Amino acid sequence: MTDTHLTKGLEMKAKFLPILVAAIAATTVAMAGDGKAIATENGCMACHSPGEPMVGPSFAKIAARYRGKTDAPTVLFQSIKGGSRGKWGVMVMKPDTKLSDDDTRVVVDWLLAN
Ligand code: HEC
Repeated sequence: MTDTHLTKGLEMKAKFLPILVAAIAATTVAMAGDGKAIATENGCMACHSPGEPMVGPSFAKIAARYRGKTDAPTVLFQSIKGGSRGKWGVMVMKPDTKLSDDDTRVVVDWLLAN
């Protein structure tokens, strides 16, 4: 390998690295956005808002209470699928039977990440 080859190779790496980083960043944003889209499409926003308490606690409050707890994904998954009562106030959340297991997991991940 000559010196010119070596330089070319380094130039290639320098050119592709930013594209790779941008692609990874775009994927992360898309995934975070999906949770929000699922929550919106499934009517969660009728009782929850990201920041303000409504009928149910805000998603920010829920995230703050559960973030860092190892069983948080399981607990929230069960709350969404099976309903929840008595944890936040007098209002009851009915079980959501329309939401698929996969979509529920995406919403829970989104909730805990935001
Ligand atoms: C009819 C109103 C209503 C709708 C619609 C609703 N929720 Fe709730 N949600 C509540 C209430 C009220 C609580 C608090 C229940 C309690 O005190 O345990 C709650 C609590 C929660 C919690 C916290 C549960 C826990 O274990 O602390 C999560 C997470 C949640 N909701 C997610 C969702 C998602 C996701 C959807 C959409 C699929 C949704 N909610 C739709 C009213 C609603």
